[in-house]
Amino acid sequence: MSGTIITIAQQKGGSGKTTLCAHLAVAALFSNPELRIAFLDIDPQGSLGEWFEAREERLGEDDAGFTFRTASGWGARREARALTRDHDFVFADTPPKSDREAQPAIEAAKLVLIPMQPSPVDLWATQQTLEATEKERIASLVVINRVPPNAKLTGEVLNALSDLGASVAANMLGNRTVYAAAMGQGSTALEMGGNKKAAEEVRSLFTEICKTLNKT
Ligand SMILES: Nc1ncnc2c1ncn2[C@@H]1O[C@H](COP(=O)(O)OP(=O)(O)OP(=O)(O)O)[C@@H](O)[C@H]1O
Ligand SMILES: [Mg+2]
Repeated sequence: MSGTIITIAQQKGGSGKTTLCAHLAVAALFSNPELRIAFLDIDPQGSLGEWFEAREERLGEDDAGFTFRTASGWGARREARALTRDHDFVFADTPPKSDREAQPAIEAAKLVLIPMQPSPVDLWATQQTLEATEKERIASLVVINRVPPNAKLTGEVLNALSDLGASVAANMLGNRTVYAAAMGQGSTALEMGGNKKAAEEVRSLFTEICKTLNKT
């Protein structure tokens, strides 16, 4: 059986694509250390690659736990599919600005995750990525990221997403410095002591994503 491609896409820059990609892959590995997991970095900014290199430096190349590949253009679809032959999960991180560059990875995916910050301005970009997935009939799940405590805006954005008919993950990620701090060290909130809430919300989100995948 071949593996599952999960593509993280969102035109809006800085929405949390790379953070989500790294955290979900680590959550997958922690849920079952036998899983074979690959990253596919399609973003020429190379942020995921930097995180991965810092991880390799910290843990050693053999213990970093993941395969890492890069690709661009149509090659991304081919590379993602090739990786499914010997991996259970392929997590593809895509660049901001244009869905055109993310398109091949969207086409190859079983599920497209769309991180967005709970702000009305981010809704416009989200809508475009949602349309790109709908056109290809690929399942999508919006993941609300950097949720501030007690924000009325989050509720308003959730209502707007519901009006658009978007599927939204029930588990959201809070605005927590541990995410940024962990990424800088080639780590994740799951591996840092101290903030248990961040680790819990990532684990719950991964469980929800697995349930969504079972239904698609
Ligand atoms: N839940 C969070 N809480 C706090 N900071 C976060 C959270 N998610 C992401 N960040 C921070 O926000 C910034 C942007 O995140 P990230 O690089 O993951 O976004 P991106 O969508 O991949 O950006 P780009 O579009 O440039 O590729 C980073 O500094 C990251 O550490
Ligand atoms: Mg990124």
